[in-house]
Amino acid sequence: MSMNYVFGFFLFLLLLIALNIYFFYTLMPISKKPINFNVPSIKLDLSPSVFKDIYDYLNYLPSQYKSRNQKFQAVQKTLISSFSPAIVQLPDVWPDQSLVASGSSLYPHKNEVAGQILHAMKTSPIALVDNAAKGTQLKLLLLLEGKQKLYFKPKRYELDHVIRGSIVAGFDRHNAEVFAYYLAMTMNLTWIPPSVIRKVNVDKEIVPVATLGLKKTMIRNANAKHCIYGKCFYCKINETVCPDHKGEIEGAAILYLDKPFQFNVYKSPWQRNYHSTKLMEWQKNSDFCKLKLSTWRHLELLSGGSLTETIKLLSAFQGVKLATEEHFRAVERRLLKLYATVQYCIGKHGSAKVFKTQW
Ligand SMILES: *[C@@H]1O[C@H](CO)[C@@H](O)[C@H](O)[C@H]1NC(C)=O
Ligand SMILES: *[C@@H]1O[C@H](CO)[C@@H](O)[C@H](O)[C@H]1NC(C)=O
Repeated sequence: MSMNYVFGFFLFLLLLIALNIYFFYTLMPISKKPINFNVPSIKLDLSPSVFKDIYDYLNYLPSQYKSRNQKFQAVQKTLISSFSPAIVQLPDVWPDQSLVASGSSLYPHKNEVAGQILHAMKTSPIALVDNAAKGTQLKLLLLLEGKQKLYFKPKRYELDHVIRGSIVAGFDRHNAEVFAYYLAMTMNLTWIPPSVIRKVNVDKEIVPVATLGLKKTMIRNANAKHCIYGKCFYCKINETVCPDHKGEIEGAAILYLDKPFQFNVYKSPWQRNYHSTKLMEWQKNSDFCKLKLSTWRHLELLSGGSLTETIKLLSAFQGVKLATEEHFRAVERRLLKLYATVQYCIGKHGSAKVFKTQW
């Protein structure tokens, strides 16, 4: 399931690319306050001609997309109240099946509930640890006292490590899971499973409660420390995760919901395909201009640095830095490209053909 979240993150970024051309028709009110947002400079590979057209739109991007949208203030206030640190009342914080069944959201999005869930995921004692063998990447399954399960995707790289090579090169980055969660919450996508950075002491919190299966996929390294190579499609005995000098492994703890939680699956047309022989429609057709009005409306709220600011604010409640400044600047550049792309699409097809008002 965790791969699905990673997939979901990609999908989500791609979804962002899809959705945007409304501004010809609706101009949002623009903040009059001077803001501290330096519009990132963007260089594009202009080889497919559609990129050149989009670049033209980028050059003439209306100023509303380079400054803060005042309507976002109220949204940000609600988010902050949902994430601010709070007294945790275990075990009542975990998602409630009746709420999920009613189709409203994964958990109530108000009054510090998100902050409480993250705190509980980060600190609850671990009763059992096993390999989570599904998927391509090394993950553990943590059973917390109180019976909630979490996936744990260990850290493989420092935040500033650059992976070279193809799009699938290297391991998954654990912080991307958590970043995706905050991004989704900022976009009001209320079905994304909560995810938080957690540190686990291998000798104290894993070894004593590890299943036999997990113990079989652990070896001692040259410093006699317990390292894990796990069980998964790409797991190899020479590619272990080892504790740091404090004996801890850092990772993304991701809420895991199994039966009886039932979810409908909606496939995004912006999902990517890694098989070059089976490309998705958007990968083959440079004129693909669809996807969802409410998503676009939300993207419009995030202009002028609000997206970066919000993710930093929310993750600061957990005392975590989730990405480098370069990453945040890259996210802001991508947002500007999305604005330009949707405008290009509206300019070409008209908003009625571009936006879908219902899922
Ligand atoms: C978030 O989505 C819910 C429906 O899922 C909606 O009721 C609510 O108004 C939305 N909030 C914002 C700020 O758009
Ligand atoms: C681990 O071994 C495999 C061959 O089994 C090799 O392809 C891979 O590069 C090795 N990984 C490292 C980190 O050395």
